[in-house]
Amino acid sequence: MDEKKSLIQKIKDLKKSKNAIVLAHCYQNIEIDEVADFVGDSLYLSREAAKTNADVIIFAGVYFMAETAKILSPQKKVYIPQKDAGCMMADMINTEKLLEFKSKYPDVPVVCYVNSTAAVKALSDICCTSANALDVVRSLNSDKVLFVPDKNLGKYVSSKISDKEIVCYDGYCPVHNLLTVNDIKVQKERYPSALVLTHPECREDVVHISDYVGSTTGIMKYVSNSNEKEFIIVTEVGVVQRLRRDYPDKKFIHVSPKAVCDDMKKISLNDIYNSLLNETYEIKVSDNLIKSALRPIEKMINI
Ligand code: 13P
Ligand code: SF4
Repeated sequence: MDEKKSLIQKIKDLKKSKNAIVLAHCYQNIEIDEVADFVGDSLYLSREAAKTNADVIIFAGVYFMAETAKILSPQKKVYIPQKDAGCMMADMINTEKLLEFKSKYPDVPVVCYVNSTAAVKALSDICCTSANALDVVRSLNSDKVLFVPDKNLGKYVSSKISDKEIVCYDGYCPVHNLLTVNDIKVQKERYPSALVLTHPECREDVVHISDYVGSTTGIMKYVSNSNEKEFIIVTEVGVVQRLRRDYPDKKFIHVSPKAVCDDMKKISLNDIYNSLLNETYEIKVSDNLIKSALRPIEKMINI
């Protein structure tokens, strides 16, 4: 057996003996799928975290995702295999900044993108992910809504919902925000009949010229339901790699080599093995914070 196969087998054995599962986001290094029980976008993974009977969750993703899993399953041990795998967008807002933002719009409900810390969630009315942001905002009984921290997702929601005013906080994903209309034009010149599928964390003008806008899973579902053969994928490279693996008869063009989330790539198979073996790095959230951050997450999951 080669080294990688034997590492995979050791991870599988450890998972069994510890009653553990591995949750992996679609932006992870693709080899992690070989040991993952569930692979998907943030909404799917948070739902699986809430449902599982496992004693241990290894979260191959970034910190806020593992923290959300812990909030949903406080009685379980949740580990992140690399403790410095963070999200640059989540770090753009903290409780002080949120309180200052809220103070300008008293009594206006706050929708908080799940890419945020537990402390920020705790001060929000409801969470959303890129897969359910439209449904979440529509569910609110208010004609004005504050949206944090992603201004691009907020603007996308605003473009689809005309009966509410959406006030966006000035945060963004530095990976998606780097992608430009020109990046798409360059690919369109080479592949004129390709459909453009885009994540809503991209800039407004990029979203505007896309054929489809949706979450990671949304993009994958779109491809599976489409008879088209060529797609320009305007999101992180992990999605492109999985599409190429799953649909070998279709062509996927990555919009730009800039679209790589370095934090998502920090975790290796070896880290997952060490995390299971040494029980590192445990996600700890205080009982009080779990209680207050759970409320907006549960509200979202119930929609
Ligand atoms: P998804 O909600 O599509 O999984 O996106 C999470 C994320 O971090 C995108 O950058
Ligand atoms: Fe955060 Fe952007 Fe990386 Fe997603 S791609 S984890 S939003 S930095």
